[in-house]
Amino acid sequence: MVNLGVLVSGSGSNLQAIIDNIEAGRVDARIQVVISNVPGVYALERAKKHGLLHRVILHKGLNREEYDQKVVEALKARDVELVVLAGFMRIITPVLLRAFPMRVMNIHPALLPAFPGTHVWQTQIDYGVKFAGCTVHFVDEGTDTGPIIIQAVVPVYDEDTADTLNARILKQEHKIYSQAIQMYAEGRLEVQGRRVLAKGVPRAVDSFLINPPPTFLGG
Ligand code: GRF
Repeated sequence: MVNLGVLVSGSGSNLQAIIDNIEAGRVDARIQVVISNVPGVYALERAKKHGLLHRVILHKGLNREEYDQKVVEALKARDVELVVLAGFMRIITPVLLRAFPMRVMNIHPALLPAFPGTHVWQTQIDYGVKFAGCTVHFVDEGTDTGPIIIQAVVPVYDEDTADTLNARILKQEHKIYSQAIQMYAEGRLEVQGRRVLAKGVPRAVDSFLINPPPTFLGG
């Protein structure tokens, strides 16, 4: 059983998926605290509905380091072992990372290292990639640069908008974030430099995705 602290800034659909998977017994974890940097966001409602301790920590008057120090204190006070960034729209500092080395996870709506940064759905469409996806990674001191734990791939269609692509990616986010947490809870994740090995997890079947699909090779 791993104690989680979940950091949010928005709707919290990833938080919801993690809550649901914990409640269904699929993820062996306990959410000890949900922290938002923005008051009134729906993620806090979700926490409340499920009886989870939730807090708003405002940044007003604090520099980034001071802010993170307050967050660290709130997490430590609840015996948090793994910090889960779920749509947390703030750059975090080494203050948080040093307090939880290789114990901060993030989810990003692209196949890293391609398309780091924010609002990357339209960027992926405009670039013309045929596949997009999402990545769960450990957080390091760069932006979206930490060791990759798990990725899911989705196709990009000609008629996609940022919203339709976001919805397709989000569906996969809701699966892979919980899986990453469960692999962590089972002690399966071994970080070797940039690589995160998933010990004892069966390897993915060899699969090949082609988009647009083959039209003359017989499928
Ligand atoms: C997701 O797109 C995630 O990839 C990004 O922030 C968004 C969070 O959505 N890091 P939600 O608040 O979990 O619904």
